[in-house]
Amino acid sequence: MQTSVETYNDRVVRQFVAATVIWGIVGMAVGVFIAAQLYWPALNFDLPWLSYGRLRPLHTNAVIFAFGGSALMATSFHVVQRTCHVRLFSDRLAAFVMWGWQAVIVLAAITLPMGLTQGKEYAELEWPIDLLITAVWVAYAVVFFGTIAKRRVKHIYVANWFYGAFILTIALLHIVNNMAIPVTMGKSYSLYTGAVDAMAQWWYGHNAVGFFLTAGFLGMMYYFVPKQAQRPVYSYRLSIVHFWALIAIYMWAGPHHLQYTALPDWVQSVGMVFSLVLLAPSWGGAINGLMTLSGAWHKLRTDPILKFLIVAISFYMIATFEGPMMSIKTVNSLSHYTDWTIGHVHAGALGWVAMITLGSIYSMLPRLLGQKEMYSVKAIDVHFWIHTIGVVFYIASMWIAGVMQGLMWRATNDDGTLTYSFVEALNATYPYYLGRLAGGLLIVAGMLLMGWNVARTWQRAPALDPTPVLPPDRAEATA
Ligand code: HEM
Ligand code: HEM
Repeated sequence: MQTSVETYNDRVVRQFVAATVIWGIVGMAVGVFIAAQLYWPALNFDLPWLSYGRLRPLHTNAVIFAFGGSALMATSFHVVQRTCHVRLFSDRLAAFVMWGWQAVIVLAAITLPMGLTQGKEYAELEWPIDLLITAVWVAYAVVFFGTIAKRRVKHIYVANWFYGAFILTIALLHIVNNMAIPVTMGKSYSLYTGAVDAMAQWWYGHNAVGFFLTAGFLGMMYYFVPKQAQRPVYSYRLSIVHFWALIAIYMWAGPHHLQYTALPDWVQSVGMVFSLVLLAPSWGGAINGLMTLSGAWHKLRTDPILKFLIVAISFYMIATFEGPMMSIKTVNSLSHYTDWTIGHVHAGALGWVAMITLGSIYSMLPRLLGQKEMYSVKAIDVHFWIHTIGVVFYIASMWIAGVMQGLMWRATNDDGTLTYSFVEALNATYPYYLGRLAGGLLIVAGMLLMGWNVARTWQRAPALDPTPVLPPDRAEATA
């Protein structure tokens, strides 16, 4: 039986935090490199493993699964322990999750530049790595839900609902979309064909956005915004409605990735309608996050961590307004294939996912290292500003470039011929690619500053005594 000397497992959380910062720097640096390649194609140096087609999936896998995944694992393990008032279910399994996940990342970093891929976006990794992911994910689920099962409080805090939904859904998506027949160690064929394959892929792809890039990060929002603002969540009731509405609607919106394709027309329309409805729970949840600051708005003036968290929610609102608009067939006929999509992606990825992660890590790390705050609060503020300016450069360039491309591609002369050749549209895009590159460089500079701040905070940490688990009543009083 556990006694009052039971402590939290902060070690695995610290390891995941380090992984998040390192992979954040690496993944975004690869993003900058491919952004530079789009401006100076010669940067592939005629080497296959440096070609754009191979480095692009390396970027997406590094930022989504290595940076985002490590952040989700770090924060979910932290939050579930603190809100359930128990140590993680199993230290050994937690260590397996940590090192197993890092092994997946390293294997991805080796195989993708080699050109080994299933050819499915965000599910590129070949079957042996997929099997390893499955094993790690099952262990992750056992540790997370095992901790919930042995909790000391009756109530399951809403952040855990979001993390739990993310863990279960990703398991389902991963298994269904990766069903394949292996041919060799590095080659397999999907079980699905034609339009069914496309549908399975975008059911996966869209819900990867909904559950990997959204639900888990909403879990972060529900824990770290109240924690940092030192206010309770604005409406607990709204958070429950938010949860069930989001979970129920996301699943059906995938066909908006396949407008005007071989998919039956009615399926495309269903995808569009569900995407439009999705605006309501997305904004409801975001408003719940923002309103948590009621009566504490003045803290934004002095607390750069809160700035990260609140601006993240604002970008979430931008992306979840823009997404439903882009799902409308007539709008999609303009936006699809253009850089507008890339602008939308990064409003979500750099504005929402990255900023809520960076704010949460700055909030959590000092406490994990037995300190009051990060080594340099000023550096957090500088990071906030260069990141925000970088994101604005990035997405504004892509929005302008995207709408321009869409309009140039569809412009016709009186006799029905195209007004502009493809190369003319490409030439017109170049200045905006430079704008994005400048934004990306700022963002990576901010990440390097964070790396320095994290390292200095770590260096000055005292010999770390494990933190005793807080009994529920005391914890509630200090939350
Ligand atoms: C310094 C920061 C970043 C830069 C410079 C950057 C750059 C790029 C570039 C150049 C592309 C390819 C666009 C194209 O093919 O036209 C791309 C794609 C993508 N990036 Fe980033 N990126 C950054 C950060 C991130 C982050 C933090 C995430 C996720 C958390 C992310 C997620 C994605 C995704 C999902 C795509 C694929 C989009 C699609 O297929 O529509 N990126 N990025
Ligand atoms: C209400 C919420 C949202 C809706 C309805 C939505 C809708 C859409 C639509 C219509 C597209 C363009 C599909 C195409 O023409 O190919 C798209 C692309 C995309 N969105 Fe969203 N979006 C939403 C929120 C988000 C958020 C919050 C993120 C990121 C965190 C995100 C990430 C992406 C990505 C990565 C793609 C590119 C997929 C690809 O082609 O590779 N979306 N979204």
